[in-house]
Amino acid sequence: MRNFSSYGPIDRELHYYVPRQQLIDDAFQQLLGKNPEKGGHYITVWAPRQTGKTWIMQEVLSTIEQGIQFDVVFLSLQFLYEENDVDIVAQLFARELIKKLNLENLSIDSSKDFHRLFERETLMKPLILILDEFDALEPKVIARLVAVFRLR
Ligand SMILES: Nc1ncnc2c1ncn2[C@@H]1O[C@H](COP(=O)(O)OP(=O)(O)O)[C@@H](O)[C@H]1O
Ligand SMILES: [Mg+2]
Repeated sequence: MRNFSSYGPIDRELHYYVPRQQLIDDAFQQLLGKNPEKGGHYITVWAPRQTGKTWIMQEVLSTIEQGIQFDVVFLSLQFLYEENDVDIVAQLFARELIKKLNLENLSIDSSKDFHRLFERETLMKPLILILDEFDALEPKVIARLVAVFRLR
């Protein structure tokens, strides 16, 4: 028997929930693109607080993780809130990604090195990166990071 839950992540087994399957499928399809061999898309999810954005992207993540074709990383950037120094953001962001992808040989000390994280020689598989709370970053930090993602 499920319970109603009004805080924290929804657990499909424990809580009543709205399936939102169409939205999850759409986000999944857009990330992967029509032909995953030929690359997917950047998407942004934009909605007010507490409307289920994080939950939906976690569901998308677990759908993708069922395959072995990609590396998938879900990273919440809340911990970089109000950090103005682009080099520090690049360093801390890289540290998290290096941990999650087991890339311990790589060291990223500044925003100039940041692009190396996403190079073909670095990554074993195509990477799908889900960045939660991206808008917590300072505008000039966002501009720098986005410039790197667009290069790839
Ligand atoms: N599909 C869902 N069905 C029912 N409740 C949900 C669902 N998705 C989210 N919630 C509830 O809404 C709250 C906010 O969800 P969350 O994904 O954290 O929103 P956001 O990331 O937009 O702030 C969660 O704590 C959960 O209780
Ligand atoms: Mg959220």
